[in-house]
Amino acid sequence: MNETLERWSTRRAFILAVTGAAVGLGNIWRFPYVTGENGGAAFLLLYIGFVLLLGLPVMMAEIMVGRAGRRSPAQSLGHLAVQAGASRHWRLLGLFGVFTVFCILSFYSVVSGWSIEFLVASINGDFVGAAPAEVGAGFDAFLADPARMTFNHTLFLVMTMLVVAAGVGKGLERLNNLLMPALYLLLLLLAGYAATTQGFGPALAWLFMPDVSAVTPLVVMHAMGHAFFTLAVGACALMAYGAYMPDQQSLPRAAGAVAVLDVSVALLAGIAIFSVVFAQGMDPGEGPGLMFVTLPVAFAQLPWGALWLSIFFLLLLLATWTSSINLAEPIVATLQGTGLSRGQAAAIVGVGVWLVGLLTVLSFSTLAEWRPLFGMNAFELVSTIPPEIFLPLGGLLIAIFAAWVMPESSARRALGVGPRGFALWRGLVRWVAIPLTLVVLVAGLV
Ligand code: PHE
Repeated sequence: MNETLERWSTRRAFILAVTGAAVGLGNIWRFPYVTGENGGAAFLLLYIGFVLLLGLPVMMAEIMVGRAGRRSPAQSLGHLAVQAGASRHWRLLGLFGVFTVFCILSFYSVVSGWSIEFLVASINGDFVGAAPAEVGAGFDAFLADPARMTFNHTLFLVMTMLVVAAGVGKGLERLNNLLMPALYLLLLLLAGYAATTQGFGPALAWLFMPDVSAVTPLVVMHAMGHAFFTLAVGACALMAYGAYMPDQQSLPRAAGAVAVLDVSVALLAGIAIFSVVFAQGMDPGEGPGLMFVTLPVAFAQLPWGALWLSIFFLLLLLATWTSSINLAEPIVATLQGTGLSRGQAAAIVGVGVWLVGLLTVLSFSTLAEWRPLFGMNAFELVSTIPPEIFLPLGGLLIAIFAAWVMPESSARRALGVGPRGFALWRGLVRWVAIPLTLVVLVAGLV
Protein backbone atom coordinates (compact mmCIF):
# COMPACT_ATOMS: atom_id res chain seq x y z
CA MET A 1 0.00 0.00 0.00
CA ASN A 2 3.06 2.21 0.34
CA GLU A 3 3.09 3.81 -3.05
CA THR A 4 -0.48 4.98 -2.58
CA LEU A 5 0.39 6.67 0.70
CA GLU A 6 2.05 9.29 -1.44
CA ARG A 7 -1.17 9.87 -3.29
CA TRP A 8 -1.97 13.23 -1.71
CA SER A 9 1.35 14.86 -2.22
CA THR A 10 0.91 17.80 0.13
CA ARG A 11 -1.15 18.67 3.19
CA ARG A 12 -3.11 21.10 1.12
CA ALA A 13 -3.87 18.34 -1.38
CA PHE A 14 -5.50 16.23 1.31
CA ILE A 15 -7.62 19.13 2.54
CA LEU A 16 -8.61 19.93 -1.03
CA ALA A 17 -9.51 16.31 -1.74
CA VAL A 18 -11.75 16.10 1.30
CA THR A 19 -13.22 19.51 0.53
CA GLY A 20 -13.85 18.29 -3.00
CA ALA A 21 -15.82 15.37 -1.58
CA ALA A 22 -17.69 17.56 0.88
CA VAL A 23 -18.57 20.51 -1.36
CA GLY A 24 -21.11 19.57 -3.96
CA LEU A 25 -24.85 19.38 -4.45
CA GLY A 26 -25.24 19.26 -0.67
CA ASN A 27 -24.13 22.85 -0.31
CA ILE A 28 -25.49 24.52 -3.39
CA TRP A 29 -28.59 22.54 -4.27
CA ARG A 30 -29.72 20.57 -1.20
CA PHE A 31 -28.92 23.04 1.56
CA PRO A 32 -31.04 25.92 0.19
CA TYR A 33 -34.06 23.81 -0.68
CA VAL A 34 -34.09 21.80 2.54
CA THR A 35 -33.64 25.01 4.53
CA GLY A 36 -36.54 26.47 2.55
CA GLU A 37 -38.75 23.49 3.27
CA ASN A 38 -37.90 23.50 6.96
CA GLY A 39 -38.62 27.09 7.81
CA GLY A 40 -35.27 28.85 7.46
CA ALA A 41 -33.17 30.12 10.38
CA ALA A 42 -34.09 27.55 13.03
CA PHE A 43 -33.06 24.78 10.64
CA LEU A 44 -29.88 26.60 9.69
CA LEU A 45 -28.79 27.07 13.30
CA LEU A 46 -29.54 23.44 14.13
CA TYR A 47 -27.53 22.34 11.12
CA ILE A 48 -24.53 24.45 12.17
CA GLY A 49 -24.82 23.12 15.71
CA PHE A 50 -24.82 19.55 14.38
CA VAL A 51 -21.79 20.26 12.19
CA LEU A 52 -19.85 21.40 15.27
CA LEU A 53 -21.06 18.84 17.81
CA LEU A 54 -21.47 15.76 15.62
CA GLY A 55 -20.15 16.32 12.14
CA LEU A 56 -16.67 17.46 13.09
CA PRO A 57 -15.83 14.93 15.82
CA VAL A 58 -17.28 12.06 13.79
CA MET A 59 -15.48 13.24 10.67
CA MET A 60 -12.26 13.14 12.68
CA ALA A 61 -13.15 9.65 13.87
CA GLU A 62 -13.83 8.47 10.35
CA ILE A 63 -10.63 9.84 8.83
CA MET A 64 -8.69 8.61 11.86
CA VAL A 65 -9.87 5.02 11.36
CA GLY A 66 -8.80 5.23 7.72
CA ARG A 67 -5.38 6.57 8.64
CA ALA A 68 -4.93 3.94 11.36
CA GLY A 69 -5.99 1.10 9.05
CA ARG A 70 -4.35 2.24 5.79
CA ARG A 71 -6.64 -0.10 3.86
CA SER A 72 -10.03 0.02 2.19
CA PRO A 73 -12.76 0.92 4.74
CA ALA A 74 -14.08 -2.61 5.27
CA GLN A 75 -10.55 -4.03 5.55
CA SER A 76 -9.41 -1.26 7.89
CA LEU A 77 -12.37 -1.81 10.18
CA GLY A 78 -11.92 -5.58 10.24
CA HIS A 79 -8.17 -5.35 10.77
CA LEU A 80 -8.36 -2.77 13.57
CA ALA A 81 -11.21 -4.64 15.24
CA VAL A 82 -9.23 -7.87 15.37
CA GLN A 83 -6.22 -5.93 16.68
CA ALA A 84 -8.43 -4.54 19.46
CA GLY A 85 -9.75 -7.99 20.29
CA ALA A 86 -13.22 -7.18 18.93
CA SER A 87 -15.29 -8.98 16.30
CA ARG A 88 -14.02 -8.84 12.76
CA HIS A 89 -17.62 -8.34 11.71
CA TRP A 90 -17.01 -4.63 12.17
CA ARG A 91 -16.01 -4.80 8.53
CA LEU A 92 -19.72 -5.08 7.71
CA LEU A 93 -19.91 -1.40 8.65
CA GLY A 94 -17.73 -0.72 5.63
CA LEU A 95 -20.19 -2.64 3.46
CA PHE A 96 -23.10 -0.70 4.91
CA GLY A 97 -21.23 2.46 3.88
CA VAL A 98 -20.88 1.07 0.37
CA PHE A 99 -24.62 0.45 0.23
CA THR A 100 -25.28 4.00 1.46
CA VAL A 101 -23.07 5.72 -1.11
CA PHE A 102 -24.54 3.53 -3.84
CA CYS A 103 -28.04 4.80 -3.02
CA ILE A 104 -26.82 8.40 -2.78
CA LEU A 105 -24.93 8.21 -6.06
CA SER A 106 -28.05 7.00 -7.86
CA PHE A 107 -29.87 10.30 -7.34
CA TYR A 108 -26.72 12.42 -7.19
CA SER A 109 -25.90 11.52 -10.75
CA VAL A 110 -29.38 12.42 -11.98
CA VAL A 111 -29.39 15.81 -10.27
CA SER A 112 -25.85 16.53 -11.45
CA GLY A 113 -27.20 15.82 -14.91
CA TRP A 114 -29.59 18.74 -14.39
CA SER A 115 -26.48 20.95 -14.17
CA ILE A 116 -25.34 19.66 -17.54
CA GLU A 117 -28.71 20.59 -19.04
CA PHE A 118 -28.55 24.05 -17.45
CA LEU A 119 -24.94 24.55 -18.47
CA VAL A 120 -25.83 23.93 -22.10
CA ALA A 121 -28.93 26.12 -21.86
CA SER A 122 -27.00 28.99 -20.34
CA ILE A 123 -24.25 28.77 -22.96
CA ASN A 124 -27.07 28.99 -25.53
CA GLY A 125 -28.25 32.17 -23.83
CA ASP A 126 -31.64 30.61 -23.08
CA PHE A 127 -32.03 32.50 -19.83
CA VAL A 128 -31.22 36.00 -21.05
CA GLY A 129 -33.96 38.27 -19.74
CA ALA A 130 -36.01 35.31 -18.49
CA ALA A 131 -38.59 35.85 -15.74
CA PRO A 132 -38.88 33.35 -12.84
CA ALA A 133 -42.08 31.86 -14.24
CA GLU A 134 -40.43 31.12 -17.59
CA VAL A 135 -37.40 29.50 -16.01
CA GLY A 136 -39.71 27.48 -13.77
CA ALA A 137 -41.80 26.32 -16.72
CA GLY A 138 -38.67 25.35 -18.65
CA PHE A 139 -37.40 23.37 -15.69
CA ASP A 140 -40.73 21.56 -15.28
CA ALA A 141 -40.76 20.68 -18.95
CA PHE A 142 -37.26 19.25 -18.61
CA LEU A 143 -38.24 17.17 -15.57
CA ALA A 144 -41.20 15.78 -17.46
CA ASP A 145 -38.89 14.52 -20.22
CA PRO A 146 -37.32 11.23 -19.09
CA ALA A 147 -35.30 10.86 -22.28
CA ARG A 148 -33.43 14.15 -21.79
CA MET A 149 -32.92 13.44 -18.12
CA THR A 150 -31.61 9.95 -18.83
CA PHE A 151 -29.20 11.32 -21.39
CA ASN A 152 -27.66 13.74 -18.88
CA HIS A 153 -27.64 11.14 -16.11
CA THR A 154 -25.77 8.78 -18.42
CA LEU A 155 -23.26 11.42 -19.46
CA PHE A 156 -22.51 12.39 -15.89
CA LEU A 157 -22.11 8.82 -14.74
CA VAL A 158 -19.73 8.03 -17.60
CA MET A 159 -17.66 11.10 -16.66
CA THR A 160 -17.49 9.88 -13.08
CA MET A 161 -16.75 6.24 -13.75
CA LEU A 162 -14.00 7.05 -16.25
CA VAL A 163 -12.06 8.92 -13.58
CA VAL A 164 -12.69 6.22 -11.01
CA ALA A 165 -11.65 3.51 -13.46
CA ALA A 166 -8.39 5.34 -14.14
CA GLY A 167 -7.74 5.60 -10.40
CA VAL A 168 -8.24 8.70 -8.29
CA GLY A 169 -4.98 10.53 -8.37
CA LYS A 170 -3.05 13.47 -9.63
CA GLY A 171 -5.80 14.57 -11.98
CA LEU A 172 -8.27 14.99 -9.19
CA GLU A 173 -5.70 16.80 -7.12
CA ARG A 174 -5.07 19.32 -9.86
CA LEU A 175 -8.77 19.78 -10.54
CA ASN A 176 -9.49 20.46 -6.87
CA ASN A 177 -6.65 22.93 -6.70
CA LEU A 178 -8.29 25.14 -9.26
CA LEU A 179 -11.91 24.41 -8.74
CA MET A 180 -12.45 25.16 -5.07
CA PRO A 181 -11.00 28.70 -5.11
CA ALA A 182 -12.85 29.50 -8.35
CA LEU A 183 -16.18 28.27 -7.04
CA TYR A 184 -15.69 30.14 -3.80
CA LEU A 185 -14.86 33.39 -5.58
CA LEU A 186 -17.84 33.14 -7.86
CA LEU A 187 -20.19 32.53 -4.95
CA LEU A 188 -18.66 35.50 -3.13
CA LEU A 189 -19.33 37.62 -6.17
CA LEU A 190 -22.89 36.38 -6.38
CA ALA A 191 -23.54 36.98 -2.68
CA GLY A 192 -21.97 40.43 -3.08
CA TYR A 193 -24.36 41.15 -5.92
CA ALA A 194 -27.25 39.83 -3.82
CA ALA A 195 -26.32 42.38 -1.14
CA THR A 196 -27.22 45.16 -3.56
CA THR A 197 -30.74 43.81 -4.21
CA GLN A 198 -33.85 44.44 -2.16
CA GLY A 199 -34.18 40.74 -1.40
CA PHE A 200 -30.98 40.75 0.68
CA GLY A 201 -32.47 42.07 3.97
CA PRO A 202 -35.40 39.63 3.99
CA ALA A 203 -33.05 36.81 3.02
CA LEU A 204 -30.76 37.49 5.98
CA ALA A 205 -33.74 37.72 8.33
CA TRP A 206 -35.12 34.44 6.98
CA LEU A 207 -31.75 32.73 7.31
CA PHE A 208 -30.61 34.07 10.67
CA MET A 209 -33.64 35.01 12.79
CA PRO A 210 -35.02 31.72 14.03
CA ASP A 211 -38.67 31.00 14.55
CA VAL A 212 -38.45 28.42 17.31
CA SER A 213 -42.06 27.36 16.88
CA ALA A 214 -41.10 25.84 13.52
CA VAL A 215 -38.89 23.23 15.19
CA THR A 216 -40.28 19.69 15.30
CA PRO A 217 -38.39 16.42 15.91
CA LEU A 218 -38.54 15.86 12.16
CA VAL A 219 -36.93 19.23 11.44
CA VAL A 220 -34.17 18.33 13.91
CA MET A 221 -33.63 15.02 12.15
CA HIS A 222 -33.49 16.72 8.74
CA ALA A 223 -30.86 19.13 10.09
CA MET A 224 -28.76 16.33 11.52
CA GLY A 225 -28.96 14.31 8.33
CA HIS A 226 -27.98 17.29 6.28
CA ALA A 227 -24.93 17.93 8.48
CA PHE A 228 -23.71 14.37 7.80
CA PHE A 229 -24.54 14.59 4.11
CA THR A 230 -22.83 17.89 3.43
CA LEU A 231 -19.65 16.88 5.27
CA ALA A 232 -19.67 13.51 3.46
CA VAL A 233 -19.51 11.80 6.87
CA GLY A 234 -21.03 8.46 7.86
CA ALA A 235 -20.55 6.35 4.74
CA CYS A 236 -16.87 5.44 5.21
CA ALA A 237 -16.12 7.45 2.06
CA LEU A 238 -13.82 9.81 3.95
CA MET A 239 -12.32 6.77 5.65
CA ALA A 240 -11.14 5.71 2.20
CA TYR A 241 -9.41 9.07 1.72
CA GLY A 242 -8.01 9.00 5.26
CA ALA A 243 -6.02 5.92 4.32
CA TYR A 244 -3.90 8.17 2.12
CA MET A 245 -3.48 11.01 4.59
CA PRO A 246 0.16 11.94 5.28
CA ASP A 247 1.37 10.89 8.73
CA GLN A 248 2.58 14.26 9.92
CA GLN A 249 -0.55 16.21 8.99
CA SER A 250 -2.78 17.51 11.78
CA LEU A 251 -6.11 15.76 11.46
CA PRO A 252 -8.15 18.14 13.66
CA ARG A 253 -6.89 21.13 11.73
CA ALA A 254 -7.64 19.51 8.36
CA ALA A 255 -11.16 18.52 9.46
CA GLY A 256 -11.78 21.99 10.87
CA ALA A 257 -10.68 23.63 7.63
CA VAL A 258 -12.97 21.41 5.59
CA ALA A 259 -15.96 22.11 7.84
CA VAL A 260 -15.42 25.88 7.66
CA LEU A 261 -15.10 25.81 3.87
CA ASP A 262 -18.10 23.54 3.52
CA VAL A 263 -20.43 25.57 5.71
CA SER A 264 -19.34 28.86 4.22
CA VAL A 265 -20.01 27.65 0.67
CA ALA A 266 -23.52 26.68 1.77
CA LEU A 267 -24.09 30.04 3.46
CA LEU A 268 -22.93 32.00 0.42
CA ALA A 269 -25.19 29.93 -1.84
CA GLY A 270 -28.07 30.35 0.60
CA ILE A 271 -27.67 34.13 0.78
CA ALA A 272 -27.53 34.43 -2.99
CA ILE A 273 -30.51 32.14 -3.58
CA PHE A 274 -32.83 33.50 -0.90
CA SER A 275 -32.11 37.10 -1.95
CA VAL A 276 -33.54 36.20 -5.35
CA VAL A 277 -36.44 34.35 -3.77
CA PHE A 278 -37.46 37.39 -1.73
CA ALA A 279 -36.69 39.98 -4.40
CA GLN A 280 -38.91 38.11 -6.87
CA GLY A 281 -41.65 37.12 -4.45
CA MET A 282 -40.96 33.40 -4.95
CA ASP A 283 -41.67 30.56 -2.53
CA PRO A 284 -38.71 29.51 -0.30
CA GLY A 285 -40.32 26.06 0.03
CA GLU A 286 -40.24 25.52 -3.73
CA GLY A 287 -38.42 22.18 -3.29
CA PRO A 288 -35.67 20.49 -5.30
CA GLY A 289 -35.97 22.98 -8.16
CA LEU A 290 -35.14 25.98 -5.95
CA MET A 291 -31.56 26.58 -7.07
CA PHE A 292 -32.30 25.81 -10.69
CA VAL A 293 -35.04 28.40 -10.99
CA THR A 294 -33.54 31.14 -8.81
CA LEU A 295 -29.95 31.42 -10.00
CA PRO A 296 -30.68 31.79 -13.72
CA VAL A 297 -33.00 34.65 -12.77
CA ALA A 298 -30.35 36.27 -10.58
CA PHE A 299 -27.63 36.02 -13.19
CA ALA A 300 -29.97 37.29 -15.89
CA GLN A 301 -29.95 40.64 -14.10
CA LEU A 302 -26.17 40.95 -14.20
CA PRO A 303 -24.17 42.39 -17.09
CA TRP A 304 -22.65 39.43 -19.01
CA GLY A 305 -25.23 37.31 -17.18
CA ALA A 306 -25.16 34.39 -19.59
CA LEU A 307 -21.40 34.15 -19.29
CA TRP A 308 -21.45 34.21 -15.48
CA LEU A 309 -24.24 31.69 -15.39
CA SER A 310 -22.35 29.34 -17.70
CA ILE A 311 -19.27 29.63 -15.51
CA PHE A 312 -21.39 28.95 -12.45
CA PHE A 313 -22.94 25.77 -13.86
CA LEU A 314 -19.56 24.62 -15.09
CA LEU A 315 -18.08 25.04 -11.60
CA LEU A 316 -21.09 23.37 -10.02
CA LEU A 317 -20.73 20.47 -12.40
CA LEU A 318 -17.05 20.10 -11.53
CA ALA A 319 -17.88 20.28 -7.81
CA THR A 320 -20.50 17.55 -8.12
CA TRP A 321 -18.04 15.56 -10.18
CA THR A 322 -15.41 15.54 -7.40
CA SER A 323 -18.12 14.53 -4.91
CA SER A 324 -19.46 11.73 -7.06
CA ILE A 325 -15.95 10.41 -7.60
CA ASN A 326 -15.67 10.18 -3.82
CA LEU A 327 -19.06 8.46 -3.67
CA ALA A 328 -18.08 5.89 -6.30
CA GLU A 329 -14.55 5.21 -5.06
CA PRO A 330 -15.40 2.98 -2.06
CA ILE A 331 -17.90 0.93 -4.09
CA VAL A 332 -15.38 0.27 -6.83
CA ALA A 333 -12.55 -0.39 -4.37
CA THR A 334 -14.69 -2.93 -2.52
CA LEU A 335 -15.72 -4.72 -5.67
CA GLN A 336 -12.13 -4.73 -6.84
CA GLY A 337 -11.30 -6.62 -3.65
CA THR A 338 -13.23 -9.61 -5.04
CA GLY A 339 -10.62 -10.01 -7.77
CA LEU A 340 -12.05 -7.87 -10.57
CA SER A 341 -9.92 -5.35 -12.39
CA ARG A 342 -10.51 -1.71 -11.62
CA GLY A 343 -12.04 -1.11 -15.01
CA GLN A 344 -14.43 -4.06 -14.68
CA ALA A 345 -15.45 -2.97 -11.21
CA ALA A 346 -16.09 0.58 -12.40
CA ALA A 347 -18.18 -0.70 -15.31
CA ILE A 348 -20.34 -2.89 -13.07
CA VAL A 349 -20.87 -0.12 -10.54
CA GLY A 350 -21.67 2.32 -13.33
CA VAL A 351 -24.35 0.07 -14.81
CA GLY A 352 -25.85 -0.66 -11.39
CA VAL A 353 -26.02 2.99 -10.38
CA TRP A 354 -27.38 3.92 -13.79
CA LEU A 355 -30.24 1.43 -13.49
CA VAL A 356 -31.23 2.49 -9.99
CA GLY A 357 -30.88 6.13 -11.06
CA LEU A 358 -33.63 5.56 -13.62
CA LEU A 359 -36.07 5.35 -10.71
CA THR A 360 -35.13 8.92 -9.81
CA VAL A 361 -35.45 10.01 -13.44
CA LEU A 362 -38.95 8.57 -13.69
CA SER A 363 -39.98 10.01 -10.33
CA PHE A 364 -40.57 13.31 -12.09
CA SER A 365 -42.87 11.86 -14.75
CA THR A 366 -44.18 8.30 -15.14
CA LEU A 367 -43.52 7.19 -11.57
CA ALA A 368 -44.30 10.49 -9.83
CA GLU A 369 -47.26 9.00 -8.01
CA TRP A 370 -45.72 5.63 -7.26
CA ARG A 371 -45.19 5.92 -3.51
CA PRO A 372 -43.96 2.59 -2.19
CA LEU A 373 -42.99 3.70 1.32
CA PHE A 374 -43.88 6.47 3.82
CA GLY A 375 -45.93 8.20 1.14
CA MET A 376 -42.71 9.11 -0.72
CA ASN A 377 -41.90 8.41 -4.35
CA ALA A 378 -38.61 6.84 -5.42
CA PHE A 379 -36.67 10.10 -5.69
CA GLU A 380 -37.95 11.34 -2.34
CA LEU A 381 -37.06 8.04 -0.70
CA VAL A 382 -33.55 7.77 -2.08
CA SER A 383 -32.74 11.43 -1.45
CA THR A 384 -34.10 11.33 2.11
CA ILE A 385 -33.55 7.94 3.73
CA PRO A 386 -29.85 7.38 2.92
CA PRO A 387 -28.73 10.92 3.83
CA GLU A 388 -30.95 11.28 6.89
CA ILE A 389 -31.00 7.78 8.34
CA PHE A 390 -28.19 5.69 6.86
CA LEU A 391 -25.48 8.35 7.20
CA PRO A 392 -26.26 9.18 10.87
CA LEU A 393 -26.50 5.45 11.61
CA GLY A 394 -23.17 4.80 9.91
CA GLY A 395 -21.65 7.79 11.69
CA LEU A 396 -22.94 6.50 15.00
CA LEU A 397 -21.29 3.12 14.47
CA ILE A 398 -18.04 4.70 13.29
CA ALA A 399 -18.06 6.87 16.43
CA ILE A 400 -18.65 3.86 18.66
CA PHE A 401 -15.84 2.01 16.95
CA ALA A 402 -13.39 4.92 17.19
CA ALA A 403 -14.15 5.99 20.75
CA TRP A 404 -15.07 2.70 22.46
CA VAL A 405 -13.54 -0.16 20.51
CA MET A 406 -10.16 1.12 19.33
CA PRO A 407 -7.48 1.15 22.00
CA GLU A 408 -6.49 4.62 23.12
CA SER A 409 -2.88 4.33 21.99
CA SER A 410 -3.58 3.58 18.33
CA ALA A 411 -6.52 6.00 18.14
CA ARG A 412 -4.42 8.77 19.60
CA ARG A 413 -1.51 8.10 17.29
CA ALA A 414 -3.72 8.12 14.19
CA LEU A 415 -5.50 11.24 15.37
CA GLY A 416 -2.13 12.87 15.94
CA VAL A 417 -3.05 14.82 19.08
CA GLY A 418 -1.71 15.14 22.62
CA PRO A 419 -3.36 13.56 25.69
CA ARG A 420 -5.55 16.60 26.39
CA GLY A 421 -6.69 16.97 22.82
CA PHE A 422 -7.47 13.29 22.75
CA ALA A 423 -9.50 13.43 25.96
CA LEU A 424 -11.47 16.36 24.57
CA TRP A 425 -12.20 14.60 21.27
CA ARG A 426 -13.09 11.29 22.90
CA GLY A 427 -15.26 12.98 25.51
CA LEU A 428 -17.12 14.81 22.76
CA VAL A 429 -17.64 11.64 20.75
CA ARG A 430 -18.57 9.44 23.72
CA TRP A 431 -20.81 11.76 25.66
CA VAL A 432 -22.16 14.20 23.11
CA ALA A 433 -22.03 12.88 19.56
CA ILE A 434 -23.12 9.30 20.23
CA PRO A 435 -26.05 10.02 22.57
CA LEU A 436 -27.21 13.02 20.53
CA THR A 437 -27.28 11.06 17.27
CA LEU A 438 -29.21 8.27 18.95
CA VAL A 439 -31.76 10.59 20.51
CA VAL A 440 -32.38 12.56 17.31
CA LEU A 441 -32.67 9.41 15.20
CA VAL A 442 -35.11 7.76 17.57
CA ALA A 443 -37.17 10.94 18.10
CA GLY A 444 -37.29 11.63 14.36
CA LEU A 445 -38.34 8.09 13.50
CA VAL A 446 -41.01 7.94 16.18
N1 PHE B 1 -20.98 15.93 0.65
C1 PHE B 1 -21.42 15.73 -0.70
C2 PHE B 1 -22.23 16.97 -1.09
O1 PHE B 1 -22.50 17.79 -0.27
C3 PHE B 1 -22.23 14.46 -0.83
C4 PHE B 1 -21.56 13.25 -0.26
C5 PHE B 1 -22.17 12.52 0.75
C6 PHE B 1 -20.33 12.83 -0.75
C7 PHE B 1 -21.57 11.38 1.30
C8 PHE B 1 -19.71 11.68 -0.22
C9 PHE B 1 -20.33 10.97 0.81
O2 PHE B 1 -22.60 17.12 -2.21
